[in-house]
Amino acid sequence: PSILVLISGSGSNLQALIDASQSPRLPGKITHVISNKKSAYGLTRAANHSIPTSYHNLVPYKKQYSDIAEARSVYDADLAKLILEQKPDMVVCAGWMHILSMSFLTPLADANIPIINLHPALPGMFDGARAIERAKEAFERGEISGTGVMVHYVIGEVDRGEPIVVRDVEMKVGESLDDLEARIHAVEHEAIVEGARIVLEKLVKERAGQQ
Ligand code: GRF
Repeated sequence: PSILVLISGSGSNLQALIDASQSPRLPGKITHVISNKKSAYGLTRAANHSIPTSYHNLVPYKKQYSDIAEARSVYDADLAKLILEQKPDMVVCAGWMHILSMSFLTPLADANIPIINLHPALPGMFDGARAIERAKEAFERGEISGTGVMVHYVIGEVDRGEPIVVRDVEMKVGESLDDLEARIHAVEHEAIVEGARIVLEKLVKERAGQQ
């Protein structure tokens, strides 16, 4: 089975998927990596493993459409087209920092291509950006006792899809943000592989069932 990965940054989660795909831990192949940032180091990681990459740049869309919502909608529709040409079995958002609109989600849903996302918080806790920092602040205010990481299906609402993998991460008083982030990223690297494997195994079972 083929996996297409969307990234925006360093790609340490992409690297975890690449490493796992070369072992029985992940019975799939990373066939394409798309980044919305030209400078994403994850593009280098993909190239190091001869995985084809694409840079899907939002700037030309912003130039063509004065309304940012329309620019984003066409950008997303073209991203969906790019992916449908590749026909992957699944899409993994590994640090993809754009909110995916329905003009992306609908074509993929119609093609039965599941999309999963990694988010460094527990379901429904800190949706959206800066989740780790916000969890740390809540911990310091005594509002939460711990945090976690989840992999979930991507639907129209940000970080709200059905969880596939949820892992708890304990929080330590006085720990620096960097140290907390490092511990969370280590858990992410396991969770993203587990989430992708669960979805792939489900796909393979469904296909076997249909034959
Ligand atoms: C991860 O923490 C991910 O959960 C968040 O962005 C970070 C991506 O890290 N969305 P990387 O690019 O995979 O190293």
